[in-house]
Amino acid sequence: MSPTRPLLQADAVSRQFSIRSGMFRPRSTLHAVNGVDLAVERGAVLGIVGESGCGKSTLARMLLGLTPPTDGAVRLDGQDIRSLDRRALARRVQPIFQDPYSSLNPRRSIASIVSLPLEVHGIDNPRQHKAIEMLERVGLPPRLAHNTPGQLSGGQRQRVAIARALVMHPEIVICDEPTSALDVSVQAQIMNLLMDLRREFNLTYVFISHNLAVVEHIATHVAVMYLGRVVESAATAQLFHDPRHPYTQALLASVLTPEPGLGIPDMGLGLSFPDPLRPPPGCPFHPRCQHAMAQCKTERPALADREHTLVACHLYPLPPSSPTGANPS
Ligand SMILES: Nc1ncnc2c1ncn2[C@@H]1O[C@H](COP(=O)(O)OP(=O)(O)OP(=O)(O)O)[C@@H](O)[C@H]1O
Ligand SMILES: [Mg+2]
Repeated sequence: MSPTRPLLQADAVSRQFSIRSGMFRPRSTLHAVNGVDLAVERGAVLGIVGESGCGKSTLARMLLGLTPPTDGAVRLDGQDIRSLDRRALARRVQPIFQDPYSSLNPRRSIASIVSLPLEVHGIDNPRQHKAIEMLERVGLPPRLAHNTPGQLSGGQRQRVAIARALVMHPEIVICDEPTSALDVSVQAQIMNLLMDLRREFNLTYVFISHNLAVVEHIATHVAVMYLGRVVESAATAQLFHDPRHPYTQALLASVLTPEPGLGIPDMGLGLSFPDPLRPPPGCPFHPRCQHAMAQCKTERPALADREHTLVACHLYPLPPSSPTGANPS
């Protein structure tokens, strides 16, 4: 096994959905995620940001093996996750979703929710004991073990979801807006807990959030998505101090909101987020870009290395000797 191989890798992954936008309309193809490459090293925290509808959750579901890619592959330690047994994958890669209420079975007790993964994986007694231990570790008093999710607060429910995700000691946790459904005061507590657990359990995180301040604080690397594609990717300090893509610059200049589902508002970009069923030709960002040139309307820039940053933008042309950075759309 190569020491430099990323723990988790997206290799040109795409996901299309065939959708009907009206009763009598023909079906059309929506490219929710389009040729995304990502590499997450062991111990890293990869933040994924971008407006609502840009494909973050679809990508997260592919990384978890919950949604199969229509093209490309997700690799865990170099191995295509399609070749892994579902349980073996779940043991190593776990999700934490935005809404703990809908992801927890309302009829089961907290103890049985947290011990269910142990049961599924055939880990025997003291199963209940392990579950209670994990509940305590995430800051829940054991007396809540026999309650149901409806009897807990939002923050407590998210702690249950975290305990359930970690009880099998996974290597990777994919967090899809894990705090955006919570009160602002509780968000910081949950974030601190996730960071403590990362150290304690040597976790690798993929962390999707609309809250750029949180991403700057916790991520080691950041990928910026626009209309299903990664348009910029770099180490966190690099990306926040020297954003190259005009979209990343607009995102960082935007007023942020912790509200779920609202996306990143008020970016001063003029036009609203484009219809993913009719993506603009050339660079998908060009209709909203104040730097757009003629080339941007016809040629899609490839994501290419520009001094510590991967960026897909014609403002940063490749030297003439290198292979073309442009892909016809
Ligand atoms: N199962 C599905 N069937 C059809 N279209 C889908 C499906 N899941 C997602 N989409 C579409 O794919 C695109 C990307 O959706 P996705 O949920 O990945 O975005 P997102 O970046 O997570 O947005 P948000 O920030 O609002 O959570 C959207 O246009 C969405 O409507
Ligand atoms: Mg989402």
